[in-house]
Formats: sequence, C-alpha cells, structure tokens
Amino acid sequence: MDKTILQMSRIHKLFSGNEVLHGVDFDLRLGETHTLMGENGSGKSTLMKILMGMYRADSGSITLFGNKVSFSNSAEAIEHKIAMIHQELYPVPDMEISENIFMGREPRDKTGFLVNTPLMREKTRSLLNEFKLNLSPKTKMRALSVAQCQIIEIIKAISVNAKIIIMDEPTSAITNNEVSSLFEHIRRLKLNGVSVVYISHKMDEIFRISDRITVLRDGYMIGTDDAKNLNNSKIITMMVGRELSEVFPKRDIALGKEILSVKNICFRQKVKCVSFSLRRGEILGIAGLVGAGRSELAETIFGARKKDSGEIYVNGKFCRIKHPKDAVKNKIAMITEDRKITGLNLEASLLYNISVVALRMFSKYGLVNKKNELSCAVDFSSKLKIKSRGITARAVSLSGGNQQKVVLAKWLAANPDIIIMDEPTRGIDIGAKRDIYALMSELAGMQKAIIMISSELPELMGMSDRIIVLCEGRLTAEFERKDFNQEAIMSAAANGGNK
Ligand SMILES: Nc1ncnc2c1ncn2[C@@H]1O[C@H](COP(=O)(O)OP(=O)(O)OP(=O)(O)O)[C@@H](O)[C@H]1O
Ligand SMILES: [Mg+2]
Repeated sequence: MDKTILQMSRIHKLFSGNEVLHGVDFDLRLGETHTLMGENGSGKSTLMKILMGMYRADSGSITLFGNKVSFSNSAEAIEHKIAMIHQELYPVPDMEISENIFMGREPRDKTGFLVNTPLMREKTRSLLNEFKLNLSPKTKMRALSVAQCQIIEIIKAISVNAKIIIMDEPTSAITNNEVSSLFEHIRRLKLNGVSVVYISHKMDEIFRISDRITVLRDGYMIGTDDAKNLNNSKIITMMVGRELSEVFPKRDIALGKEILSVKNICFRQKVKCVSFSLRRGEILGIAGLVGAGRSELAETIFGARKKDSGEIYVNGKFCRIKHPKDAVKNKIAMITEDRKITGLNLEASLLYNISVVALRMFSKYGLVNKKNELSCAVDFSSKLKIKSRGITARAVSLSGGNQQKVVLAKWLAANPDIIIMDEPTRGIDIGAKRDIYALMSELAGMQKAIIMISSELPELMGMSDRIIVLCEGRLTAEFERKDFNQEAIMSAAANGGNK
C-alpha cells in the first residue's frame, strides 16, 4: 500500500491580485521521489514555498502525516522535518562551510553552552568527503563557486534528517559526477523512508530519479502519473500544451572575418596559456568539467578578472582589457553564470534591468532617452517571452528562469558584437531554451560571434560550430562541428584526452 504522507489540496495563490496557482492538488507518498515539472513561471517554486511556510496560500489545505498544518515560516517547516534546497542560493559570504551546514543546530560541548567547533568541522569533513568535495570545512562560503555552493546546500538538506526534502533545481550548476552522487544519496534516503519532491528542467535526470511526475502549466495542475507511463514528448506536450519540433534550431551561416583572438591567456593556476580565435557568425562552445577554468577564462577575457599574461585582439586590433568597461567599449558582452551576484538588480524593475547596460553604453553626457529605454525593454522582453506583470514589475517577482532571461535581454539590448554566455540556459524550461537557441542562431545570422560555456553537452553539440575543451585550465582539444563526438569531448574534459 502506498502511504500518503502529504496532501496539498486545492491550493490557490495570488500575488497582487494575479492568480498564479489555480487550485492545485499535490500529494507525496512515503519513500518516493515525486517530480514537479512545468515551464518557467508555472508555479512550482511557489507551491513548494507555500508548503515551507514562506508564502501563505489564499485558500486550500495542507495535511501532513494526518494533521492539518499551515506553517508561518520555514523554521516551523524544518521543525516538522521538511527541508528545502532553494533554487536561488543566498550563501552568507563570511561563514565557513561547517557553520553554514550546521547553522542553528551546531553540536555543543559538554557544558552545552559552547559550539564544539572541532566536532562540527569533523562532521563537515566527512560529509564533504562523501560528495568528493576536496575542501576544508573552514573554507569561507565566499570562496566557493556556484556549483560548490549548490553541493553544500544539498549536503545541508540531507544532513538535517528531514522526512521530506524539497529539491528545487538542485543540479542546475553541478556536473554529471556530482549528480550521480546526489542520486545515490536520494536512493539511500528513500530506503530510509524519506520522500523527495524534485524540481528540474533536465529531462534525462527526471527519468533516472522519479517515481511519479506531476506537471503544472500556468498555475494549473495538468496531471500526475507514474514515471514509467511517461516519456519526453508526453511530458513536453503536457508542459507546453503542444508538441515541440526541432530542439536545436541551428542555422547554417557562412562565417565571416576573425573578430576575436586571444593568445596565451594565463590566470593564476586556473587558466593555463589558452589561445583561440572566433569568427563573425560563429558559435564557439567551451566544454569542460566544473573547475576546469571555463568561467575564469571568460571572466578574464571580459576584464572581470585580472589576467597574469596574454593578449586579446578584437578585429585584429590589440585591446587592453582591464575592466568590464573596457570589454563593453569593445562591444563584448558577458552573460554571467551567477545572476544573483553579477547579473541582476533584483529590487529594480525589468525596465531598469534590461536597459541598464545599453544606456551606460549609448547615453551621451548622462542623458537618458526614456523612449528608447522603454522600447528596447519591451522589445527584448517580448522577444524572449519574459513572463511578468509588465515592464515595471520588479525582477525579484519573476520566476527563476524568467530572471535568467532578463540577464540575457539586458546584454543583448546593448547590441554587442561578441557575446560570451556562461551557462545561458541553466534553470530554463525546454520551450524557453529553444527560444534562446533560436535567438543565438538569429544573432549569428547578424554576424555576431558567440562563445557559449555549457555543462550540457547536447546543447553545446546542438548549437556550436566548433567546440574547444578545457581540462584543469588547459585547452586539451578542439572539434569542428562535423567531428563532434560525445565520448571524445568527455574524455578530453575528464583527462585531457589521455587514456
Ligand atoms: N514574490 C513574488 N511576487 C510576485 N509574483 C511572484 C513572486 N514569486 C513568484 N511570482 C510569480 O508567480 C508565478 C510562478 O512563479 P514560480 O517561481 O513559482 O515559477 P516556477 O515554476 O518555479 O518557474 P521556474 O522554472 O522559472 O523556476 C510567476 O508568474 C512569478 O512571476
Ligand atoms: Mg522556480
């Protein structure tokens, strides 16, 4: 008998009069993984935040282990053994890893008054080992990459002995190996009777891990079924209400002149003497594992990090790029991996966020052309199908995937010639991913050049003209589109192509 431990019934939720959940039912059984799917903005995070007591439902009920509950904050939910890995991470930069993991439940010494720091660090060390994270428990959160922060969040949720763990896009930033160890953990947790609500846009993952799948569309429950009765196209049809043709709308574009050439770039021990070039109309993919130095390379080219040596040529001319401003002057844009820190002003409107870079570039003598600002923002938000209440809505009120689209819009609005995209489709639903790919093709057709860093090989192989591979900071392989081969790319990324 399947034992239902959680029942959410007819949940309605309005944000400023706008209904985003229309009477949604959701239930969870003992020891199952129940995956929640749906396009960006369909209401997945909101539904789970209601369970966690972070938002209050306008109507509907929640029954947990046979009792009606309504939590008013997440501490109450945690007391009731529900933990959540959030889609958006807000690490406290000054905390060390062990303090973060054991926040609010630090092991005490014999007196019970003082935190037993050595014990806390020891416990942390063994958790880190389990996830093969080679870090000291004393490392400050500020020193971690997005991927590492995400693993720390996973470790934290697993280590609180919750009965229900909600994982909202837990793997958006991590690689296959780490995903495998997460799934290993989930399997073990399930055997111990823990239930998992899993939210992800990655199709291959959800079929590896799900017992049941529920699909939301525009705040409506579309259906729940056993994973074994579903497949990719059934789910996509449930999500978008139609079938999707051609996931990678790659266009054949005649490549133009060389627009960028980077020579012998070195940055600390992260990027080791990397050289490559890029032509107009070209999409260059950069593959590699987390920590291979891909983001560091991009940030060095963009001037966000100070290179130790190396040269950058734009249109054949030597460019001194010491600051992102210098890059922007040379019409280079960068869409960052971490939108929270470098991508968006969350409190500001879409209008502001989309037009901010373009204005800084084009407004003369500090004068802002309000009309241009508005039309450019409206244009890009419709091109990218950004789902919001309007152009004056604050960025913080958007769903995670829609925030990512705003980051894209803001850089594209500045009309750059060279666009560096670091994980551009992370956390974005399949329909919206396709919109972004189509836009990339369109940009390439306008003779722009694109560098795409991605951990998802299918999209790299689907969209790139050429792929270079980094392994431990070194460029280890280069493939032309006709020679793309998944195994060869993975092997160059894992061990430089040796073995
Ligand atoms: N704090 C908020 N204030 C106003 N509107 C909000 C707020 N949080 C979410 N919304 C709106 O509620 C709707 C559902 O958002 P939600 O974040 O639940 O989507 P999601 O399914 O998690 O999407 P994604 O896949 O992009 O993470 C969206 O239209 C969003 O703009
Ligand atoms: Mg979400």
